[in-house]
Amino acid sequence: MALNIRGRSFLTLLDFTTEEINYLLELSMEFKRMKDNGVEHKWLPNKNIVLLFEKTSTRTRCAFEVGAMDLGMGVTFLDSKSSQMGKKESLADTAKVLGRMYDGIEYRGYKQEVVEDLAKYSGVPVWNGLTDLYHPTQMLADIMTVKQEFGDVRGRKLTFFGDARNNVANSLMIVCAKLGMHFCACGPEELMPTEDLVKTCREICEVTGGSVTLTSDVKEGAKDADVCYTDIWVSMGEPDEIWASRIDLLGKYAVTADVMAMAKPTAIFMHCLPSFHDLNTTVGQEIHEKFGLEYMEVSDDVFLGKQARQFQEAENRMHTIKAVMYATLK
Ligand code: CP
Ligand code: NVA
Repeated sequence: MALNIRGRSFLTLLDFTTEEINYLLELSMEFKRMKDNGVEHKWLPNKNIVLLFEKTSTRTRCAFEVGAMDLGMGVTFLDSKSSQMGKKESLADTAKVLGRMYDGIEYRGYKQEVVEDLAKYSGVPVWNGLTDLYHPTQMLADIMTVKQEFGDVRGRKLTFFGDARNNVANSLMIVCAKLGMHFCACGPEELMPTEDLVKTCREICEVTGGSVTLTSDVKEGAKDADVCYTDIWVSMGEPDEIWASRIDLLGKYAVTADVMAMAKPTAIFMHCLPSFHDLNTTVGQEIHEKFGLEYMEVSDDVFLGKQARQFQEAENRMHTIKAVMYATLK
């Protein structure tokens, strides 16, 4: 079904209906088919977008850049060191300037209010490329991956293991609620999503048939899961000193082969990436030296195993971000 979301910003999936999310997913599949078949789709010539990154990125930045270029658009990348934003120029002034030059703005940073203000003052569609609170573009890629695996996602159980109040977990709870899926947050009580967000998602579930469960029991989290999902234990912007307490709290929520064995035999493993599954990163090595861990949120055998879908999920960032840009700018 073709819906019209032209001119809208993409700040949180709470702003989008089930039908609108499904429309974006269908469009993403169409973009993937064209890309796979080498069909040119420069559907937005003469448009330009700017990408603002106050935190680092591989997937999100590249997905926006390749997506924009495939659509025939021009792209400018600005990180926090190379623009005046915040230091010499207020956010509102920056937004007003960028809105006069660009057709759309992507923002990755800290507070959700910043991305909301950018949308308020720029007058053009703003896309949330991750804040401390939400990561909505990630969600479309994630659900696209679940759809590729299982078809209809309604009634599927997705369990998030770990820091269940981070941006990715919050957004997964929302998208699962919107699409009638069963979301389970599996982690320590200290790291559960806020009561307010849980309440909002449960209200959405009353309409869609989904559910939200919170548990600290790994067995309960894994039982009947179609998707075992995890993310890093310390998110960007959190202080390094927090590692010790996170390792202590989250150690037993690592997704290992034992956890996968407790899920459905057809279950898949997913991760938004980047991931600490081995010692081939600076941080992974430092944590190993300090705490003796060989891996953190997922064991290497699961990450490299047959049930893992994280690289397909990463590719889907490009198709889904392209769909968001096209649908809001066309
Ligand atoms: N998943 C994700 O957002 O990756 P990046 O931080 O590399 O953009
Ligand atoms: N929760 C992670 C997600 C990275 C894509 C972070 O914010 O660092």
